[in-house]
Amino acid sequence: MKAELQAIQAEALEAIKSADTPDALESLRIKYFGRKGKLTDVMKGMGKLSAEERPEMGKLANEVRATLTQAFEAATQALHSQQQEQQLAAEAVDITLPGRKPAYGKAHPIMQTLEQIEAIFYQMGFEVVTGPDVETEYYNFDALNTPADHPARDLHDTFYLTDGHLLRTHTSPVQIRTMENQKPPIRIIVPGKCYRVDYDVSHTPMFHQVEGLLVDKHATFSELKGILTSFVRQMFGDKTQMRFRPHFFPFTEPSAEADISCAVCQGKGCRSCGGTGWVEILGAGAVDPAVFEAVNYDPNEVTGFAFGMGVERIANLQFRIPDIRTLYENDLRFLRQF
Ligand code: PHE
Repeated sequence: MKAELQAIQAEALEAIKSADTPDALESLRIKYFGRKGKLTDVMKGMGKLSAEERPEMGKLANEVRATLTQAFEAATQALHSQQQEQQLAAEAVDITLPGRKPAYGKAHPIMQTLEQIEAIFYQMGFEVVTGPDVETEYYNFDALNTPADHPARDLHDTFYLTDGHLLRTHTSPVQIRTMENQKPPIRIIVPGKCYRVDYDVSHTPMFHQVEGLLVDKHATFSELKGILTSFVRQMFGDKTQMRFRPHFFPFTEPSAEADISCAVCQGKGCRSCGGTGWVEILGAGAVDPAVFEAVNYDPNEVTGFAFGMGVERIANLQFRIPDIRTLYENDLRFLRQF
């Protein structure tokens, strides 16, 4: 029996050494320690031994059991840490690799200009409001004193939709929407998209305007000039000149168009200003009494003025873009310059 125990120990130790997975180790444990295991078998034979032999064999068997138990524990530990090391190596992050730079987006040049315009008027006490791109003829034309036979209603200028709807041709309808819902005093600007059937170096079918409206007991044309002059100087610099030319709009009376001294050539005359030194940037005027009547304001109680400026035109001057259409071609080589 002694020899048998020693043989089992030697054999088991050898087998444990070469076991290289937790599963292999577990089946060895069962092979020796299990209910029908080799060591268990020998222990069962203990009863048949004589009284003299029994203590010695019992002691030896216990020693073998302890040795093997320890060997199993050591092997389990070793396998475990080996596995951990492998896992760590597999999941290792190479912190010496150069990082990947995220590609940052930027606001489109039109949006940059729009935000600047908004900031300047906001600081002069104007509230920013918006309105729908899809309008009715009433808001886009009728309420703005634009009769059905006015050239602006020509099919060639306006994108008509079904059911008397259209794509707004200017931001002025938001004047009406605002006055319908608010009592004076009113001091708003309206940034937004507008649409006209037009396409050349200075026109795209979709473009942006910023509308302005001020209504109060005594709003005057000189106040309008003061506000707009302050605006263009903040936008284009202190030396910028501004001039107003008489003009016609159905919804303002009197009306004017305003030019600024060309920001590209400082008024000397260049390609951007067609050699004149001046660039037209907006239309403006005193709100026509007929418009006040359309929104149930009493023209004897209030006066007002309004203006509408082209954002693309202003962005072109700021960024010196010769062809407005390049703004909407979405060529990244172009857009990355701003
Ligand atoms: N709505 C006019 C246009 O698109 C501009 C304008 C706005 C003129 C407000 C006067 C007053 O041309």
